[in-house]
Order: sequence, then C-alpha cells, then structure tokens
Amino acid sequence: MLVNTKEMLKKAKLEHYAVPHFNINNLEWTRYILEVCEEEKSPVIIGVSEGALRYMGGYNTVAGLVKNLITDLNITIPVALHLDHGSSVESCINCIDAGFTSVMIDASKEDLDTNISMTKKVVDYAHKYNVTVEAEVGHVGGVEDDISSDIAYAKTEDAVRLVKETNIDLLAPAVGSAHGVYKGTPKIDYQRIKTIQEQTNLPLVLHGGSGIPDDIIIESIKSGINKLNINTDLQIVWSEAVRNFISKDDEVYDPRKIIKSGEQALKEKAKEKIKLLGSKNKAN
Ligand code: G3H
Ligand code: ZN
Repeated sequence: MLVNTKEMLKKAKLEHYAVPHFNINNLEWTRYILEVCEEEKSPVIIGVSEGALRYMGGYNTVAGLVKNLITDLNITIPVALHLDHGSSVESCINCIDAGFTSVMIDASKEDLDTNISMTKKVVDYAHKYNVTVEAEVGHVGGVEDDISSDIAYAKTEDAVRLVKETNIDLLAPAVGSAHGVYKGTPKIDYQRIKTIQEQTNLPLVLHGGSGIPDDIIIESIKSGINKLNINTDLQIVWSEAVRNFISKDDEVYDPRKIIKSGEQALKEKAKEKIKLLGSKNKAN
C-alpha cells in the first residue's frame, strides 16, 4: 500500500522506533527491499535520489515501477515513495505530479531565509496532494573529505524557525552523521537531537545511516530519531556479493544471474537494520 510518511512516522514516534529509509538504484533493489520488508512486516520508505531518478529513466518511470511492484508482488505493508535530497522546488513538484507520496527539499546549503522560502513553496504544493515534506537544517555533508569539517550542526533556533514558518512534516537536522563510509566513529550529538525534537515536536530523520555502530543508532532513536536513511551499507554488501560471484565464474554473462547474486546479502543487511531500528512487525 502506497502511503505518505505522516502516519507511519507518527506511529514510530509514539512507539519509539525508527522506520527504515532504503535508497533504491534499480528495479531489482526495489523488488528486494519491498520483499524483505513485507517478510519482516516492516513499514518502509523507498528513497530515490535525483541521481537514481536520472539513472532509472525519470520521475514517472520510478513512480510506475514502485506502484506496479506493490501490486504485482502483493505488498501489503505501508510503503512511502520519497524523493531524497530534492535540490529544487521544481524537482519536488515533478515527483509529486508523478505520484510520489513524500518529498525532501534539501536547501540546507542555502542561508536559512532561502531554505525557508524554498521549503515553504514545496509544502504549499505538496500538502494540496496529501504529500509529506522533509527539510534539512544545518548541513549533513559527505565523508569524502574530512567528516568533521563537512558538517554544519543544526542550531535549535533555526530548526524551530524552519518548522514554524513552513509547516513541514519531518525534519532532518545535522547532528553529526555524514553520507558515505565513515573514516572514524561518528560523534552524534544526542542532546541536540533531544532539544530539537522537544522544541519542534516532529519526527526527526538521521541521514548517513550507514556504518554507524548499533549502540549509537539505538541511542539516537531514544533521543528522537524516527527515520534512518540507509544507502551505502546496502551498496557495499550487494557489490561484495556480486564481485565474489563473478570472480568464481568466468563464464557467467546473464545479467539476471549477476545482479541476483547480490540479493541475499542485500536482504540480510536490510533485515539486520529492520531489527535494529525496531520496525519489525510494525506494519499494520
Ligand atoms: O539520504 C540518504 C542517506 O542519508 C544515506 O546515507 O549512504 O551514508 O547510508 P548513507
Ligand atoms: Zn541523506
């Protein structure tokens, strides 16, 4: 069932767990994620970046793919189709028009006033169509360079202003995580999560969810995180399995066999995350 993120995160907030946001890269990943979440009876947010949208063909292709897989695979769990790190108002509108149920407008690199005005435009459009909106405050960087210098921690007063002036549904504050493979152990600012959660009363999102030790994720959820974004962890286990499969068979050429060789590893990692986040059996 395709739903927006509002109800699923409201329940997660009430019952103190987090819903997994898994990024998709192609048809097979989408299928594996839907299947494993159905098996675990976990709600799921299917996240699609603009890069993945371009790679897969576009907004309509992806919306059709997810909707049709839900039907053809008899998926009964709540599924949200979410634009991840939308870089413009236009990009969000295109996704909403194509049937996405949730969008993130990421204007976190802009100054706060610009972030607020871009986010407000998206909210005004999205809410007419019952689509939920996530925005980012502070800036969650990548770990290609130096993780500590690439994160602009969210200020509570900025978070409060963004929420009050835009009426967003979920908030991603920068609290110490980063995208990609960590060089050291990330230092998550739990107190900052707690304060922002108390002051905004919204479900909070943690980006860069891959490679964070389990105990830190558990503490983050306790502090107020209800959505954890995971991409790199699935990419790593899938590519390791595929590399291993190809290296043992010089003659394989069927792409279905090659891509499928990463299925089990991906599903196992996703299962681990679902257990850790506490979302198993929370689909109802
Ligand atoms: O928006 C997507 C993520 O924040 C995923 O980050 O690739 O580090 O898991 P990750
Ligand atoms: Zn992210």
